[in-house]
Amino acid sequence: MSLLVQNLGKTYPTRSGELSVLHDVNLTLQSADALAILGPSGSGKSTLLYLLGTLERPTTGTYRLGDQEPFRLADAELARFRNRSIGFVFQDHHLLPQCSVLENVLIPTLAAPGENLETRARELLERVGLSHRLDHRPAELSGGERQRVAVARALIHKPVLLLADEPTGNLDRKTAQTVGELLLEMHRQEKTMLIVVTHSPDLAKLLPRKMEMLDGALAAMA
Ligand SMILES: Nc1ncnc2c1ncn2[C@@H]1O[C@H](COP(=O)(O)OP(=O)(O)O)[C@@H](O)[C@H]1O
Ligand SMILES: [Mg+2]
Repeated sequence: MSLLVQNLGKTYPTRSGELSVLHDVNLTLQSADALAILGPSGSGKSTLLYLLGTLERPTTGTYRLGDQEPFRLADAELARFRNRSIGFVFQDHHLLPQCSVLENVLIPTLAAPGENLETRARELLERVGLSHRLDHRPAELSGGERQRVAVARALIHKPVLLLADEPTGNLDRKTAQTVGELLLEMHRQEKTMLIVVTHSPDLAKLLPRKMEMLDGALAAMA
């Protein structure tokens, strides 16, 4: 399994004309890879994760994930591909407030009726250290616990690619460290490629590969 991005570009139409955010992103990852992406605010890091997560279509370039070229798919097929193959962890947990922890982890499975992944959800919640919180609502959890739920939810379908956008941005330093370590541990156990956008040098340090977003392209870092 690999990820191959070539000459990826993204331009947004704005009232003052075309805004080129990404113009030549190239990236290759193998299944065991974990990458940190750093770069100044506004440099296009979230935009890149949206493209890699197929939430947005690029303006130019090609993207291959495993044996698929997702942007060749029509919208409905693309949504199905995204649901199955890609996991997301955002800065804000994006959990549904009215649902329990267990229900939140099962949300992505609602798009695939007939599939029962409750055992998998319980197992993931145990692995992220939350088996004693299955019936809690998100408001009844700490910030770090909420991100642990978000990590479990992202992994429910055993995605080939796990994307995290500033996953520790709202956490204190100690909690951030634990959530960062959890992401790495789950990436290794689940054998999912991992890409983490972060401002945190501590989190970046945990990841074996680092790249920087500069002038709309990705550059290798020492
Ligand atoms: N939907 C959009 N329409 C127009 N401009 C956008 C849109 N999304 C992001 N941008 C612009 O693209 C640039 C990069 O944004 P973003 O990817 O969020 O940066 P980062 O995550 O690195 O802080 C910013 O200048 C932002 O204003
Ligand atoms: Mg961002």
